[in-house]
Amino acid sequence: MITVKNLVKSYPKRGSKERLKAVDNASFEVRDGEIFALLGPNGAGKTTTIKSICGLIVPDSGDIRIKGYDVLKERKKALEQISAVLEGNRNLYWRMTPIENMKYFCGIRGKTLKRTEALRILETLGLYEKKDELVHKLSRGMQQKAAIAVCLAAGTDILLLDEPTLGLDVNSAVEFRSLLKNLQVQGKTILLSTHDMGLVEAVADRVAIMNNAKIVVCEEKRKLIDLFTARGYKVVIESNGSTEEKLARLGFTEWNKDGNAIELHLNLSSSKELYEIMEKFRVNQIEVESIEKELVNFEKIFISYTNGSAKS
Ligand SMILES: Nc1ncnc2c1ncn2[C@@H]1O[C@H](COP(=O)(O)OP(=O)(O)OP(=O)(O)O)[C@@H](O)[C@H]1O
Ligand SMILES: [Mg+2]
Repeated sequence: MITVKNLVKSYPKRGSKERLKAVDNASFEVRDGEIFALLGPNGAGKTTTIKSICGLIVPDSGDIRIKGYDVLKERKKALEQISAVLEGNRNLYWRMTPIENMKYFCGIRGKTLKRTEALRILETLGLYEKKDELVHKLSRGMQQKAAIAVCLAAGTDILLLDEPTLGLDVNSAVEFRSLLKNLQVQGKTILLSTHDMGLVEAVADRVAIMNNAKIVVCEEKRKLIDLFTARGYKVVIESNGSTEEKLARLGFTEWNKDGNAIELHLNLSSSKELYEIMEKFRVNQIEVESIEKELVNFEKIFISYTNGSAKS
C-alpha cells in the first residue's frame, strides 16, 4: 500500500553550511490491511518520514509510492488514497467546530460528508457533545480527537497517524486502541508513529524502529517479542559466603540479593550462551536454584534497539 525506498531528507543547519540528515536512506513498506508502527526517540525522523509520504516535504532523494502512485510524479492520485493526522493538530481550523472541520476538509477532497456519518464518527471518538464547540475552546486531547475525526471523515483506505494518542487521557488512549482495531477490521491500512508502547503492544502488526535518522529494525512485532523472550532469562542462585565474589570474577556486574537468593538477569544472544554460563557456574560451584524465561514488554525491545545493544 505504501512503499518507501531509500528516502533521504536533510535540513539546513542554522548558522552553518552543513546539513542535518533527518532521514537517512530509509526503506520500508506498509502492507494492505496492516497496522504498521514507526517508533523512535525524539528527533529520530518519524515525522519527517510521514510528512514525506504525505507530500508535505520534498525529499532529497528516494522513492515513495502509495498504492503504486508516485507521490512526487503522480501527486494528486497518490494523495487521494490517504488521510493523515499530523503533529500538533495541523489539520484543523481553530475557528470552526469539529463537524465544520470535518465537512470542510471533506469538501476540499471533493467529498460530501453526510451529517449522520459525521455524527457517527464523533460518537465513536466520544466527541459528540462537543460537535458544535469551536475547536480552540476544546481541551488538547479533544482537539486531538477532532483531528482524528477529520482524518476518518475522509474515508480513505490508508490512514497516517503521527502520534495519535498524544494528549489523550488514559481511558481515551486505551479506547483508541479498539478504534484502531475496528478500523483494521473495516479494511483500513494504518501507518502510525508513537511513543506509546502500550499502543504498539496492543495493535501493531509490524514495527519499524528509527534511531538517528536510520531504520534500525523492521519486523513483525510478534517475531521481535519472541526473539527477545528467547534471550531473556532470570536465574536464581543460592548464595553462600563466596558466591558474589565468584560472580564478579566471572564478569557479572549486576544482581539483586534477597536473603540467601541472588537474582541474575541474563540477556543472551543465543541459547548456546546459557549452556556456557551454566557450565561456568558448575565449575565454580555456584548453585543454581531456578532458571526461567523472562517476559518482555515492548519498552525493553525499543530501548535495546535505540541504545544500540540489540543488533538487527
Ligand atoms: N523544518 C525543519 N528544519 C530543520 N530541521 C528540522 C525540521 N524538521 C525537523 N527537523 C530536524 O530533523 C530531525 C528529525 O525530526 P522529526 O520531527 O522527523 O523527528 P521525530 O522522530 O518525529 O521526533 P519526535 O518523536 O520528537 O516527534 C530533528 O533533528 C529535527 O530537529
Ligand atoms: Mg514527530
